[in-house]
Amino acid sequence: MAQTGVRIVAAGHYAPAAILTNEDLEKVLDTSDQWITSRTGMKRRHVSSADEATSDLALAAARRALANASLKPSDIDCFIVATVTPDYVFPATACIVAAKLGAKDTAAFDIEIACSGFIYGLTVASSLVRSGIFRRVMLIGAETLSKLVNRNDRGTAILFGDGAGAVILEASAADSFLSSELGSDGSRPEILRVPAGGSRKPLTPSAWDAGEQYIYMEGREVFKFAVTKMIAVTDSALRKANLTHADVDWLIPHQANKRIIDSAAKYLGMSNDKVIVNIHEYGNTSAASIPIALSEALASGKIQPGNVIVFVGFGGGLSWGAVTWRWVA
Ligand SMILES: CC(C)(COP(=O)(O)OP(=O)(O)OC[C@H]1O[C@@H](n2cnc3c(N)ncnc32)[C@H](O)[C@@H]1OP(=O)(O)O)[C@@H](O)C(=O)NCCC(=O)NCCS
Repeated sequence: MAQTGVRIVAAGHYAPAAILTNEDLEKVLDTSDQWITSRTGMKRRHVSSADEATSDLALAAARRALANASLKPSDIDCFIVATVTPDYVFPATACIVAAKLGAKDTAAFDIEIACSGFIYGLTVASSLVRSGIFRRVMLIGAETLSKLVNRNDRGTAILFGDGAGAVILEASAADSFLSSELGSDGSRPEILRVPAGGSRKPLTPSAWDAGEQYIYMEGREVFKFAVTKMIAVTDSALRKANLTHADVDWLIPHQANKRIIDSAAKYLGMSNDKVIVNIHEYGNTSAASIPIALSEALASGKIQPGNVIVFVGFGGGLSWGAVTWRWVA
C-alpha cells in the first residue's frame, strides 16, 4: 500500500447563536462571575436550541471547512466525528453528517473518547491517510454538552458549552504528522462520567429522578489528573518527534480550564501569545474545543508554514493524548 505524508488543508467551525454568560448563571445558581472567571477563565458558552443536535453543529462546521478548502463533499473519502454527545446511541453521527452533506456511500464512523476525541481522531485520521487507505478524511469534533449538564449543579453547569470544529486531512508529499502519544486509565470511571443511560445502568425512571442522566464530575480530582497528564503526554510526544520545548511554536490545548492550560504552558516555557486560548468564549466544548481553536487560529493568520504545533487534550476515560504537527501549506 502507498505510504504518503498528510497535511490539514483547511478547517471550519460553528457554534450556536444562543449565549449563556456568567451573569446569566449568577441569576440561577449560587455562583458569581468573579468565581467562574478566576477559577476557570470562562465568560460565555454557546448553547444549542432544543431542536439543534450534534450533527447540525457538525454539518455547519463541515460546510465551512469544505468552503475554505474549495472542496465538495464527494472529494472526502471518510468522515469521522469525535463526540460524546451523538445524535443517537446509533447510528453514528458521522453517517448522518455525511448523508446531510450529500456524500454517497462514503466511509463514516464516530470516535467516543470524551474530551480526548480530537487528539485520538487526529491520530486515526492521519494514519488512514498516511497508510494510503484514504486520500482525504474529514475529522469533526462536535458536541452539545449543554444537554448533558445538570443546570442545578454549579460544579458542572458553569463549565460546558456547545460547538463544532472540522478539519480536512489530505495526502501530501510533505508530512505534517510528527508524533502521537495516547493513553488511558479506566480504573476510576466514577470521577468523570454520565452514570446512567448505558448498558451498566439503563435510564430507568428512578435513575432519571436521581439526575443520573447528567455529567457527574469530581472537579478537584480531574484537575490534578489534567495538569499532570497534559505535561507528561506533551513531553512524551515531543520526545517521540525528537523535539524540545524550544521547538514548539504553538500550543493548542483542550479548553477545560484556563488554570490547567496556564500550568502546562508554564512548564513548557511558552509565553501566553504562543498558546491558543478561547475558553472565555466557548467554555469546555469537549472534542470540539481543539478544532475550534485551530480553526480560529488559522482564520486569524497566526499559524504559518513550518510552525510546530502541539495539540494536547485529556478527559473522561480517563484519557489523554498529544500530537505534534508541522504546519504544511
Ligand atoms: C471544577 C473546577 C473549576 C472547580 O474549581 P476548584 O478550584 O477545584 O474548586 P473546588 O472544587 O475545590 O471548590 C472550591 C469551593 O468552591 C465551591 N464552588 C464549586 N463550584 C462553584 C461555583 N460554580 N461557584 C461558586 N463556588 C463554587 C465549592 O463548593 C467549594 O466550596 P467549599 O470550599 O465551601 O467546599 C476545577 O476543579 C476544574 O476545572 N476541574 C477540572 C474540570 C475539567 O477539566 N473537567 C473536564 C475534563 S475534560
